[in-house]
Amino acid sequence: MATGAAWGLIEHGSLVTEGDCIKWLGPDAKLPAALAKASAHEHDLGGALVTPGLVDCHTHLVYGGQRANEFELRLQGASYDEIARAGGGIRSTVAATRAASDGELWSGARQRALALMAEGVTTIEVKSGYGLSAEHEARCLRIARLLAHELPLTVRCTSLGAHALPPEFAGRPDDYIEAACAWLPALHAQGLVDAVDAFCDDIGFTPAQTRRMFEAAKALGLPVKLHAEQLSNQHGCELAAQFQALSCDHLEHLDDAGVQALAAAGTVAVLLPGAFYFLRETRLPPLAALRAAGVPIAIASDHNPGSSPGLSLLLMLNMACTLFRLTPEEALLGVTRHAARALGLQDRLGQLQVGLQADFAVYGLDHPRELAYWFGHNPCLRVVRAGVEVTP
Ligand code: NIG
Ligand code: FE
Repeated sequence: MATGAAWGLIEHGSLVTEGDCIKWLGPDAKLPAALAKASAHEHDLGGALVTPGLVDCHTHLVYGGQRANEFELRLQGASYDEIARAGGGIRSTVAATRAASDGELWSGARQRALALMAEGVTTIEVKSGYGLSAEHEARCLRIARLLAHELPLTVRCTSLGAHALPPEFAGRPDDYIEAACAWLPALHAQGLVDAVDAFCDDIGFTPAQTRRMFEAAKALGLPVKLHAEQLSNQHGCELAAQFQALSCDHLEHLDDAGVQALAAAGTVAVLLPGAFYFLRETRLPPLAALRAAGVPIAIASDHNPGSSPGLSLLLMLNMACTLFRLTPEEALLGVTRHAARALGLQDRLGQLQVGLQADFAVYGLDHPRELAYWFGHNPCLRVVRAGVEVTP
């Protein structure tokens, strides 16, 4: 995924790691003899496919409970926003998360991370947003941080205090935003926050409220991201672009002005086919306009109990192609180079390049287009993270 050539594919390649970095890669025939001799451990992958470790740049992995009851309600005709407005939706997961023990939250998050890793994922983003109080947001972010300590995984933690209005602030969204802005410095001081996100929508927060969260992030030097134009067009992308957002995510209702704003700010468009599919949305994100404007496009699982309960990033590649019409190459870029950029990690991850971190996955496939082609089975054979084999 490193160069302009199609896929950046190297046939009959060799890859040399040293410490946690890639020291050399290229056609096997050109492997310098000195490097071949110096290598302490040689692995013959038998012609398997090697890709950069996959990056899932948008997940909500830490939560209590599940919402299969709401899935049934939606199948009987209720809509996602009706359920949310009636006090279900995100707020029902907030209640379940607050009621869960640390151990329950940890074991749920750990199992979900392991499921993603089994397919070759070596980096994930984890958002808070189901605690919605200083205490519970900190608890969820600590569990997200713990994933990086306990598992061979790079984890970026995003504070999503502005996800929904908690019951104790019912009817007082501005007061809630003020409180969420006020607890951000303490979360940051505890080393729990890498970025700040918000849900800007009819059933989320207004652009003015989102702006206040972004100002609070900016005051701390934290980058921002946004759940934008998912169910309605609030022109969240234009606001996020003013703050040089790392990414804007969902985007089904994005218009031309929003596309131009993303392009000008260098913001990544993160498309989430799992949520589109599971909510049975019909309005497609404006792929042609994003392409024409040269906006980098990423794909993520958006794993969460309400709109996207899946745990397969490879299935998202397939859905990005079948539902959104990405090419298989765009889909793979979307979970490697562009996903790393959506997390601000493009200088370290997302490509196989000399000097970058040696994160890669080995698949029993002939060509990378097959990553988007097969679904419902896992072709991942081996995983290396930071130069160490971590095959599940
Ligand atoms: O990314 N849109 C807002 N947040 C999540 C859904 C959260 C939920 O339903 O619990 C999303 O789709
Ligand atoms: Fe999300």
